[in-house]
Amino acid sequence: MEAGMHKIVNDTHPSRDIILKMPKIEVHRHLEGTYPIKSLFKMAMKNNLDVPSDIDTFKKTFQFPKNHKPDFLLFLSKFKKFWYKSIDDVKYITLKSVEALADENIFYIELRFNPLHFTELTNLDPCEVTQAIIETGDSAAKKIGLHIRYILTFNRGIQTANEMIHTYKLLHNSDLSRVVGIDLAGDEINYPPELFTPFFDLVKKDGQFRIDIHAGEVTDTNNIWTSIDQLHADRIGHGVSAINDPKLQNVLKEKQIFLAQCITSNYQTGAWEDEPSHPMKDLVESGVPVTIASDDPTIQDSLLTDDYMKAIVNFNWNIDSIIQLNLKSFDSTFLTNQEKDKLKKEYLLSIESFKNKFRL
Ligand code: ADE
Ligand code: ZN
Repeated sequence: MEAGMHKIVNDTHPSRDIILKMPKIEVHRHLEGTYPIKSLFKMAMKNNLDVPSDIDTFKKTFQFPKNHKPDFLLFLSKFKKFWYKSIDDVKYITLKSVEALADENIFYIELRFNPLHFTELTNLDPCEVTQAIIETGDSAAKKIGLHIRYILTFNRGIQTANEMIHTYKLLHNSDLSRVVGIDLAGDEINYPPELFTPFFDLVKKDGQFRIDIHAGEVTDTNNIWTSIDQLHADRIGHGVSAINDPKLQNVLKEKQIFLAQCITSNYQTGAWEDEPSHPMKDLVESGVPVTIASDDPTIQDSLLTDDYMKAIVNFNWNIDSIIQLNLKSFDSTFLTNQEKDKLKKEYLLSIESFKNKFRL
């Protein structure tokens, strides 16, 4: 059994095969943590990279080690930047990642990526990378019938606020019409949110994008408060520590600021001590806006489907609990109200055919 998962699946729960087919919504997913391992391996072999040449060892090397004690910095260290040799590599791995979303029936996704992740060890241009990812993602999504938008991630350990401002302005040379948000990710322990106020003041002033901040994942709620008060956060990545702060919970409810929580990721990073007692259940029950997401399936060796299963098994939820959570999750998205209403109707139709297919 996977470490952290202690409860036994019983017969009354829907099977993983059924949950795999359920239409899903996901607003917290990193492209760099989404690559299908087989495609990544293929690309690494093509590029003659110095990596294990058998796929099982390769997989073990680049994923969070099974049964390792939770470790935030080890988790973050698994995001390698040496994969890419050309813009075609970026397109290839984006295509394979978006195609894989169809395998678990993602209905709507806000896929985030950090353009600089792809350029740091290459001579690729961040605007070209941004354009390539969006065009490849859009064209794959269209073929599959998947709804997709993008979020640009800025990494707090890599750039100062001024450097982020520079990159942000530079990226406006690409077509950003499909981008709905700006995200702050990386090591919140050593790079707290207040360091980035000038950058998010600018994003807020521009008014073109919504703001999503990784905060309170492995820290107390100070980082969440600062993200709301100083970085203008519209949504919080993880925010696990909010469970200990009723005053903050009230603010999240009043302002309808969603916490995008990720059961598997939160265990591996040490954000929460185990999976069965994850605070999502209590937060949802007390009316705090929460959406369920996967974060980084490749690193974690688990899909969004597995996070749904963990919620069902550990919180004693059923399919309808997840459907209700997903319907509410439309309000966590960075779409316009009109887009939300349209997609919600479409989502309900796809849920209806899912239920009919499995006689649920
Ligand atoms: N980047 C990718 N996954 C992350 C996480 N869980 N926390 C912070 N930054 C990340
Ligand atoms: Zn994340």
